[in-house]
Amino acid sequence: INAAIGRRCYSSSPCHYGICIDIDGVLIKGKTVVPEAKSALQFLSGENKLKKKIPFVLLTNGGGMTEIKKAEEFSEIIGVQINPSQLTLAHSPMRQLVPKFKDSEILVIGGMGDNCRIVANSYGFNRVVLPNDVLAWKPSIWPFTKLREDDLKLTRKLDFSNVKIEAVMVFHDSHDWGRDLQIISDILQSKDGYFETLASHEELSVQNIPLFFSNPDVIWSNDCFTPRMAQGSFRLSLEHLYKQITGLQIKYTLFGKPEPVTYKFALKLLEDHAFETTGLRLPNRKIYAVGDNPASDIAGANAHGWTSILVRTGLFKGEGNHHLHPANHVTDNILQAVEWMF
Ligand code: G3P
Ligand code: MG
Repeated sequence: INAAIGRRCYSSSPCHYGICIDIDGVLIKGKTVVPEAKSALQFLSGENKLKKKIPFVLLTNGGGMTEIKKAEEFSEIIGVQINPSQLTLAHSPMRQLVPKFKDSEILVIGGMGDNCRIVANSYGFNRVVLPNDVLAWKPSIWPFTKLREDDLKLTRKLDFSNVKIEAVMVFHDSHDWGRDLQIISDILQSKDGYFETLASHEELSVQNIPLFFSNPDVIWSNDCFTPRMAQGSFRLSLEHLYKQITGLQIKYTLFGKPEPVTYKFALKLLEDHAFETTGLRLPNRKIYAVGDNPASDIAGANAHGWTSILVRTGLFKGEGNHHLHPANHVTDNILQAVEWMF
């Protein structure tokens, strides 16, 4: 890689480019590291002939933990130090909702235990309700999930007949689809956000509880042979059920790739990181984006004028380019992608 890159990388000073790399299906698959990932990241982190750091950030539709925890966990798995300031998770841009919902009770969905409450609190949402808090108050809300002692310890003890839920935010994949579909549907159909109330059909036609999703992906790639259902599949199920039950189309706002709000957030992160590593702010930095999901990574990069590179280590396995969302270039893996960039 040093030989391939040497000609361009070292001659172009200052660094007028930046790289945005997807995580699942490009660098890791489940807990397994993609074989070429470590050397590619080591190279970009400055382990090259000139000890030159190439500005790069990681942009994932995954999450379910704080940026600090994810950076720690990911650095450990991959064996290369990644800082939280190099990481955009699916829910990272949702901190933009804090000014509006700072002190409102919000229902947060996804992840293990109370991890997503910790994430939401870290962004500045002060009143976070998790589905298990509601179950602890009234188990008949979803009688098929029995809370264990450990789960109960993590719940907020509230009387939900007096708690007004003002927004629903899906931060991460649901770990209990039945419970979460039921509880979201309850709140969206409620009178003004109170559990165990039902709005009339007329009242429901104006959905007054806003709903947010952090990740549009319908499928994703881990170490299972075939693609797995992602948060987008959960959203489609909710939409379908809600339509069957109420006759109405659910309204929601999306964050995550390929949404513009997420690209704006990632671009700022990359600019700040490039400034940290090179000491320079450049107006028209050239940006490369590497991903395995044509519908999110490639569609998003193409729409934002970034140079897209599709790899074959994750969702996409085709011989040529993708038919609907063609990338600027297709390579077998992340290392080949880095070589091509230079
Ligand atoms: O649930 C995570 C998944 O949808 C995609 O993650 O890293 O490929 O954007 P990533
Ligand atoms: Mg991916």
